[in-house]
Amino acid sequence: MSYSAGKTVWERLPRPARILAPMEDVTDSVFRRIVARAGRPDLFFTEFTGADALFTKARRSVGKRLQFTAEERPIIAQIWGNNPENYFRAAGLIREMGFDGLDINMGCPMKKIIRKGHCSALIENRSLARELILAAIEGAGEMPVSVKTRIGLHSVKTAEWCSFLLELSPAALTVHGRTSAQQSEGCADWNEVARVVALRDEMGRATRIIGNGDVRSYVEADEKRERFGVDGVMVGRGIFENLFIFRKDGRNYGALSAEEKIGYFRRHMELYHETWGERRNYEVLKKFVQTYIREFERSTELVDAIMQTHAYEEADELLDRFLAERGRPVAPVFPA
Ligand SMILES: Cc1cc2nc3c(=O)[nH]c(=O)nc-3n(C[C@H](O)[C@H](O)[C@H](O)COP(=O)(O)O)c2cc1C
Repeated sequence: MSYSAGKTVWERLPRPARILAPMEDVTDSVFRRIVARAGRPDLFFTEFTGADALFTKARRSVGKRLQFTAEERPIIAQIWGNNPENYFRAAGLIREMGFDGLDINMGCPMKKIIRKGHCSALIENRSLARELILAAIEGAGEMPVSVKTRIGLHSVKTAEWCSFLLELSPAALTVHGRTSAQQSEGCADWNEVARVVALRDEMGRATRIIGNGDVRSYVEADEKRERFGVDGVMVGRGIFENLFIFRKDGRNYGALSAEEKIGYFRRHMELYHETWGERRNYEVLKKFVQTYIREFERSTELVDAIMQTHAYEEADELLDRFLAERGRPVAPVFPA
């Protein structure tokens, strides 16, 4: 594909753009396809992928994070790590794979990762952060490179950190309005996100600013654009509460019948099995149970029972029994 033939994916996005956040063990190819059908965001991200691991024997296992289908486009691959040479190589690989862009994770707060100087630790290591971004830009050619970050490591450092990043002119900057130390605690500070928008404008950069943190509905994207001037919002955990969060018609997943919700879950199980086989553990699939099986009579009981299972067949049997007890069809119901 040619990136130079027109605008980049970031330039083509509507304002406000609604983006599904990268989430490890959640936003894999399977979940992205389900979300694409349930209510499509303007842009998808992969789970974060170790740039170093891509060039070791671990490539086979880590490579599944970069698997995608046409239905999931436009899609950005997210990488992490702290070796510039591997960023350069990873960017080339990702471009060849046909991704619409590359994103660098400078926000993950996991202690074991920060201790090694990766992700949000880079907020306090600007010379390496610069090297990594420049290496990615060089390797990416015409493919756009963006950064996802937080407003500080231990304390709020929005202005220093984000003006430094903006100097490097990334195609987009996603700002999660919390410090790394805050993890997911408290509320995201959108005034700090607005500060980045103001910085971008003062500096006269074209970088798209995407706000992230606690967005829970479709209309909130418009509100955030109005109040804080962002070009778009990124939604993470909000998708677990309402699988239809990206639907313009305002329909809520919670309003579906139990049969329809079970249909969605079954479709996820089928796709998961078909796509990953033994490559991803059944136990990881259980993370999704509560996203689908919710807000109907005896749903909590059903969730508890599914959480006790250890194989697809067991879960399938449980669902069949549940539906039979309700006198409803056993066949899966899923929107075509
Ligand atoms: C289970 C889970 C996994 C995550 N994995 C990633 C990841 O791989 N890369 C990343 O940049 N952020 C990751 N995040 C952070 C989210 O992308 C997002 O920044 C954060 O959840 C705040 O947004 P929210 O309030 O809409 O959930 C993850 C979050 C969760 C809950």
